[in-house]
Amino acid sequence: MSSRPTVQTPSDPGRLPMTLPLLMEKKRLGDPIVMVTAYDYPSARAAEAAGVDLVLVGDSAATTVLGYSATTPVDLEDMLVLARAVRRGLTTPLLIGDLPFGSYEVSDEQAITTAVRMVKEAGCEAVKLEGGGEASVSRARAIVGAGIPVMGHVGLTPQTSTALGGWKAQGRTATAAARIAAEAQALQEAGCFALVFEAIPSAVSDELMPLVEIPVIGIGAGPATDGQVLVFHDLLGIRDGLGPRFVKRYANLQQEMNDGITAFAEDVRTRRYPAPEHTYSIDPGELADLHERLV
Ligand code: KIV
Repeated sequence: MSSRPTVQTPSDPGRLPMTLPLLMEKKRLGDPIVMVTAYDYPSARAAEAAGVDLVLVGDSAATTVLGYSATTPVDLEDMLVLARAVRRGLTTPLLIGDLPFGSYEVSDEQAITTAVRMVKEAGCEAVKLEGGGEASVSRARAIVGAGIPVMGHVGLTPQTSTALGGWKAQGRTATAAARIAAEAQALQEAGCFALVFEAIPSAVSDELMPLVEIPVIGIGAGPATDGQVLVFHDLLGIRDGLGPRFVKRYANLQQEMNDGITAFAEDVRTRRYPAPEHTYSIDPGELADLHERLV
């Protein structure tokens, strides 16, 4: 068992809601930060029960729950519906809403308007946006200036993966890694409360971490980051195929769902379902009366 101090443990019934100061305290203590994505009430309840620190309503919803092949098609209205359902299932983790592609790129005003909707209409406590270039940094600064905490996201940024040369690891040359370092620092200076590092070599994370004072949550960025995030459907096996290299699968729920529905279909076709215990009764006198009336 680790002798390191922790801010709070998942099993603690008096668990406090996660706040930005608590998150910084976790970083200071070296207490790993746990983040998962969620897209609806049941996934939020599972995240709550596990005592995770941060829940992201990711635009990965486009592929995980809406069936698109990329994240770009999901729109703000879709994200608001999903985020509201997640909000209803959470008490203690900090809820972060991902700003979908097209909802913040046009101007700082557009970014603030979108972020405000995520907070007011869905109850998100923070928002996340992708990229560390000039425009993203300006959007982050503007949203922070409007009083809404922002999580940045550098490395592989799926919304712009075409421009990055495809869905692949980033920062694999000194020049590319130095650009990610500069982007991370610019987002930090813009006031972001935390960052996501996605799909960058572990050795690059090792180099970058001392440059960043805010919590960094990694996904495919090795063990050096302050915390880790995985997509709900990837870690629970609710998908075809294994997914990216960095995914560790903790369950195979797609198979369990397939098996459950196959068994139900078989029961219906062989009339094993419904059995007497699944049916309602009626008083025999009432039934006789009904029969009289219907003949
Ligand atoms: O949309 C998402 O799920 C994300 C995580 C991978 C960080 O951005």
